[in-house]
Amino acid sequence: MTVPVITVDGPSGVGKGTISHLLAQHFGFHFLDSGALYRLTALAALRRGVDLTDEGAVAAIATNLDVVFLHDSSGEVKILLENQDVSLDIRTEKAGNNASKVAVLPAVRAALLQRQRDFAEAPGLVADGRDMGTTVFSQASVKLFLTASAEVRAERRYKQLIEKGLDANLRGLIEEIEQRDERDRSRSTSPLRPADDAITLDTSNRSIEEVFAEALNHCEGIAPGH
Ligand code: DC
Repeated sequence: MTVPVITVDGPSGVGKGTISHLLAQHFGFHFLDSGALYRLTALAALRRGVDLTDEGAVAAIATNLDVVFLHDSSGEVKILLENQDVSLDIRTEKAGNNASKVAVLPAVRAALLQRQRDFAEAPGLVADGRDMGTTVFSQASVKLFLTASAEVRAERRYKQLIEKGLDANLRGLIEEIEQRDERDRSRSTSPLRPADDAITLDTSNRSIEEVFAEALNHCEGIAPGH
C-alpha cells in the first residue's frame, strides 16, 4: 500500500523541524527525523571508538542501530540508543557535524535507506531531511525545500541551543553552518539539493505561521477531511 508522504528538505536551521512537526500534527501523520539517524550513527560509532571515516565499520553500526523513538503523552519524543536516553546528546552542534561526516559515506546512506522508508505507514508521513524528496521518498506526494540565509539560520540555531541550556557562539555557528552546508551539498551520494519537482520556500524573513500556511496550501487534498 502506498501512503501519502510529504518531504521537507533543506539545510540546517531553516525551520524544517518546526514546519514538519506542524504538518505532521495537522494531518495526524507519522514523522521521520532522518537527521537523527545520522546523528545516532555518529554517536554510536564514537562510543565504540570507531573512526568516522571508516566506511565499513560505520555502515555496520548504522545497519545494527538499536534505536527507539519514544513518544510521550505531551508529544515529546525521547530517543533511546541501546536503552539509554541520548535525546540531548545528539542535539549539540558537534553531533550535527559528526552526523554530516558519516552522511558522506555511501554505505552508511545505503544502510539507513530501508529503515527510513519503513516510517511510511498509514495514514501518512512527513519526512524531514536532506534527500527525502530526491532519494528516500522520490515518489512523495508533496516535496518542499526550505531555504534561508546562513546568518538567519545561525541566529535561529543560537536561540534554540540557548533555550535548551546548551553552549553556543554565534560567529562560530555561522562558520560551522557554512562548512556543514558545503559538505552536505558537495558529497557524491544524495547531496543536499531540491528535487526537480520540489517547491522551494524561503523562510528568511517570514514567521513560522506564514511559512506553515504556505506549506499547507501546497498539501491540499493530501489527506481526506483536512
Ligand atoms: O537535520 P540534521 O541537522 O539533524 O542533520 C544532521 C546531518 O545529517 C546533516 O548535516 C547531514 C546529515 N543528513 C543527511 O545527510 N541526510 C538526511 N536525510 C538527514 C541528515
